[in-house]
Amino acid sequence: MSSSSLILGIDTSCDETSIAVLKEGKELLSNVVSSQIDVHKLYGGVVPELASRSHLENIGVVLKTALNDAQIALSEIGGIAVTTSPGLIGCLLVGLSYAKGMAYSLRIPLTAVHHLKAHLFSPFLEYEEIYPFLGLVVSGGHTALYHVKGFSEITSLGQTVDDAAGEAFDKVAKLLGLGFPGGPLIDKLSHRGNPKAFSFTRARVKKGPYYFSFSGLKTAVSLLVKKMGEKLSSQTVDDIAASFQEEVVESLVEKVKLACTAFPSKAILLSGGVAANSALRGRLQTLADERRLSFFVPSPLICTDNGAMVAYVGAKQLAEKKVAGLDCNAYASNPMW
Ligand code: KG4
Ligand code: ZN
Repeated sequence: MSSSSLILGIDTSCDETSIAVLKEGKELLSNVVSSQIDVHKLYGGVVPELASRSHLENIGVVLKTALNDAQIALSEIGGIAVTTSPGLIGCLLVGLSYAKGMAYSLRIPLTAVHHLKAHLFSPFLEYEEIYPFLGLVVSGGHTALYHVKGFSEITSLGQTVDDAAGEAFDKVAKLLGLGFPGGPLIDKLSHRGNPKAFSFTRARVKKGPYYFSFSGLKTAVSLLVKKMGEKLSSQTVDDIAASFQEEVVESLVEKVKLACTAFPSKAILLSGGVAANSALRGRLQTLADERRLSFFVPSPLICTDNGAMVAYVGAKQLAEKKVAGLDCNAYASNPMW
């Protein structure tokens, strides 16, 4: 095994400190994710300053665990991939500075990875690569649809013009007094609720057919909760959760359906934290079956933020000699790959 075959992937873009070791661009030797949910749940959302400090406290032990799990020494690592955008700037800088320090001291190449590109290709950690595909990335910070003909041939079809899908789940969960993060909680309650109990008007986005909007839906739920008064019965909470989830899922699936017709593809790929949602997975699987397309969605640990997906994209970039200098910077938002 050549030393360059082991790539370290680092993600500290939001509230998970994660480091993975990937062998030969595909075989995952370890993927350690240290979640900060306990730090942020008191506030009902991610507090950027606390997130940066937690990354700083945790990154050393996360690295040690990732190397131990992979049963390798740091000196065997041949390259480092790190998320440099988009994300919370203080958080990104912790991972980037750590990565630079290691790359410099070990004299190995560093590559800068775009977080959305990492999510977009993350299903290929567990499935064979196939092109062209339609990729729906749905997370706490992003909602975007892509048509992908190759690793560097990516067309962005549209994204959200306001809130991300995961953000809407988190905000509605807060309105319903459920806790943080809201997505998994709403997903769970939706199994008991009636998705047709309440109907919400679908947002029509003027910008284009593949753009999304979720802030109006969140406001509609807020008005509904206010109108219903102080104490909601648990059945009403379940029904609101199910009806809200139904609207989010249908508005996502509607755009993918449209794109299937307009952009010839062999597969639909779903990724990002909201890809863990059971209704969304089921509905897209049905759509793929109807259109005779493959459907790839990662296992839950690869849906939410993780170092494995960063290592996967990083390994490909390093193979293409896309190396970052020690002067490379992090960016809170960056539309370019
Ligand atoms: O990808 P991710 O870990 O972080 C970002 O890059 O933003 O996604 C986190 C988001 C949160 O908003 C969380 O509520 C949502 O993913 N999420 C879910 C589910 N599990 C996590 N949303 C809906 N249903 C789920 N089962
Ligand atoms: Zn993410």
